[in-house]
Amino acid sequence: MSKLISALTEGADRIDPVSVDDYTRIGGFDALKKAAAMNGEDIIAEVKKAKLLGRGGAAYPAGNKWEHLLHIPETPKYIVCNADEGEPGTFKDRLIMDKLPLKLLEGIIIAGFVFKAKAGYIYVRGEYRKIQKKLIAAIENAKAAGFLGNNILGTGFDFDIHIVSGAGAYVCGENSALLNSTEGKVGRPRIKPPHLAEVGLFLQPTLVNNVESFVNIPLIVNMGGDAFLQTGHPDSGGTKLICLSGHSRNRGVFEIPLGKITLRDAIYDPELGGGIASDKKIKFFHLGGQSGPIGSVEQLDTIYSYTDLKKTGLAVGSGAIVVMDESVSILEYLQGVTEFFIHESCGKCIPCREGNRQLLVILQKLSTPGAATANDLDTLRLLIRTMTDASFCGLGQTAAAALNSAWKLFKTEFEANVRHEEKI
Ligand SMILES: Cc1cc2nc3c(=O)[nH]c(=O)nc-3n(C[C@H](O)[C@H](O)[C@H](O)COP(=O)(O)O)c2cc1C
Ligand code: SF4
Repeated sequence: MSKLISALTEGADRIDPVSVDDYTRIGGFDALKKAAAMNGEDIIAEVKKAKLLGRGGAAYPAGNKWEHLLHIPETPKYIVCNADEGEPGTFKDRLIMDKLPLKLLEGIIIAGFVFKAKAGYIYVRGEYRKIQKKLIAAIENAKAAGFLGNNILGTGFDFDIHIVSGAGAYVCGENSALLNSTEGKVGRPRIKPPHLAEVGLFLQPTLVNNVESFVNIPLIVNMGGDAFLQTGHPDSGGTKLICLSGHSRNRGVFEIPLGKITLRDAIYDPELGGGIASDKKIKFFHLGGQSGPIGSVEQLDTIYSYTDLKKTGLAVGSGAIVVMDESVSILEYLQGVTEFFIHESCGKCIPCREGNRQLLVILQKLSTPGAATANDLDTLRLLIRTMTDASFCGLGQTAAAALNSAWKLFKTEFEANVRHEEKI
């Protein structure tokens, strides 16, 4: 059986991405027509049965999020699609927006129907300029065909979708910072609670989901939640788009069934990663973006599912898999990760703003023979705990996740240069 499948990505490369005729020829907007004849509760029941976990990184159950929002009486409600895709090593949402923008719109419009929302917003990474234009063309074409705009499919429901461009800040992918940025404010995270479902965009009830999460919605509506669940893992239905990069022989986006293949398959199967590009061996892999954990060769036989990866201290996260061969120094790699977080910290809270800088100082000392002492390792431990527990948002809370996991796996490398001071 092929480990590479095409469910979400069905039709990509076969159609003109912005042509409604092409899209409807491959079954596009069938789910929207079906959803328009259903009530919101029934659609949410299917999403819950499907056990769709949010694909943006946090893996929050989409059905629970939708149910919560449905029961909030305040109106108007807004639908927001997180297309910021700022996590290094992650480029799957780009593929969807580039090849199947109408499918993304269909998922967002179905959400609009469920919540009788006033409008939808897609917050797109600033660097994706061409894709923003493509999305605008897709929106215009969907409107002209009656799938978007006023009186959608003759139901009397009016719904429009707007494109908002990010400006290159990683923190704006955090959902509350994203809403601030969409409102034209400084893109910094908000305090939570209140939950965004209650006080979201323009202080109104709001749904925020990732691009890949929305694109799963037409599939779930078409095939039903139970059938969707069968295509994945019993705890999380569907497929996952993974992004292979680094020293992987094949780099790019691949669609795999959740829970049915191992990490080794993802990295070595000829249809997927195809192994290491050089004649060297793999040393480690970094999952789910810079904020995710690092794994070692011993963990390669773990099943790629949210549940199995979590059991071994790993995580799906955004779907990124950065593969590194044995030529890479783990301490140098982690310095690169930490420099990223120093650059992207918004500076609002001390554990993240100062903590990342201090992590880098210690990592540099650990890389220099005789520069670090056992005290530095104690400080490192304390820093990791403080940043994880006391940072204001997910950026600071996860900035040391790679370091923390790598330390356990590569203890010898971490401690090789530590100076053992003699007691006086
Ligand atoms: C610093 C930071 C950056 C994030 N960047 C993204 C992003 O680029 N895209 C995304 O979908 N979610 C991102 N998230 C997660 C979002 O806050 C949120 O959980 C997600 O958009 C919810 O959608 P989902 O439930 O469909 O995954 C980020 C979180 C943090 C803390
Ligand atoms: S953890 Fe604090 S400083 Fe870091 S990005 Fe979040 S709010 Fe800003």
